[in-house]
Amino acid sequence: MMGKTCSKTTPSNLLVKRGERQKARNTPAGKETNAPLGVFVLEYDASNEDIEKTRNWKPIIKIAVSGAAGMISNHLLFKIASGEVFGPDQPVALRLLGSERSQVALEGVAMELEDCLFPLLREVDLGIDAKKVFEDADWALLIGAKPRGPGMERGDLLEMNGGLFAEQGKALNEVAKKTCKVMVVGNPCNTNALICMANAPNLDRRNFHALTRLDENRAKCQLALKAGVFYETVSNVTIWGNHSTTQVPDFVNAKIGGERCTDVIDDQTWLENDFTPAIQTRGGLLIKKWGRSSAASTAVSIADAMKALVTPTKEGDWFSSAVITDGNPYGIEEGLVFSMPCRSKGDGSYEIVEGLKINDWLRERIKKSEEELSNERMCVSHLMGVEGASCVILEDTLLPGEM
Ligand code: LMR
Repeated sequence: MMGKTCSKTTPSNLLVKRGERQKARNTPAGKETNAPLGVFVLEYDASNEDIEKTRNWKPIIKIAVSGAAGMISNHLLFKIASGEVFGPDQPVALRLLGSERSQVALEGVAMELEDCLFPLLREVDLGIDAKKVFEDADWALLIGAKPRGPGMERGDLLEMNGGLFAEQGKALNEVAKKTCKVMVVGNPCNTNALICMANAPNLDRRNFHALTRLDENRAKCQLALKAGVFYETVSNVTIWGNHSTTQVPDFVNAKIGGERCTDVIDDQTWLENDFTPAIQTRGGLLIKKWGRSSAASTAVSIADAMKALVTPTKEGDWFSSAVITDGNPYGIEEGLVFSMPCRSKGDGSYEIVEGLKINDWLRERIKKSEEELSNERMCVSHLMGVEGASCVILEDTLLPGEM
């Protein structure tokens, strides 16, 4: 692994080899050198530490990020390094996973991180080998994935990205902390999370999430706009199911200003026929206008999803995350990664919120998303150590960003 550290850590924390560090230290900034990322390395006398400032800091946590040279990461990494996600007393080490193609770009990301002078950012390490980058990770944010190319079927996309997530699951299994929380963003994220989980049996299945917080945020925004209120008054919004066009944004249980959403927005036709498809396909509309997939809002929603796990959920509220359905209270088939309403005590774990009203309209649509995920699972079963399952994609449904 290559390494960059602009750190106030002790030298033993550094991943870059000592020889390389030494060479790097003697290299003037900006001068061409073969030493990997050497220009970024500063050795720092830890006794210079401002003890008063750091006395109450928690032990450093390691956050591994794949697709680290991509657009989403380019927003997210700076939020994490600034302390916005884990708070002002939580130092972080960032482990950036790239590919051979993105290796040099990754160095650029490291340069920018360093130039921000974030006090809480204690290490940045770069690499293209998941087994090294994921070592001792407390969090793994799996953002990197390939988009569906022209002419590709959904099954092809599942196969192509599934292989990547199987490999990353194996790497996490071998080297990450057993308590590592894994947030899968690369699409198709629900099934990628399932594949990753199946290949990482040493990790708790409940610590795997696929990102549907972006869909939740999109739904909150549209409900707020329709009701003519500020976003913050919209609560209890669940996204059920797959992060695809079968997802179900739940207006039945949502609240606006503490009132039932359906009482505040007394327009069932709009809720069913405008709001619902708008959320299911919002990623696509964004691509049409912006010319590329959502990046900043995705990064914000990843930060929101992480904060939701490390902050106690407000009384009476919940958040959406796609999690393992084992033992779920809604009768959804077990062994799927399915978005459901969750609450957290703020210790990184969560519980599924029980007792939401599932009317016929919701039930029918939730079932469709469940069937889609069940089929996706069959198509990737060989990547989960199960042979002989048949793969039938009933309908070539889309990711929110596909047109
Ligand atoms: C989104 O919802 O914006 C993304 O998942 C879109 C995509 O397909 O990349």
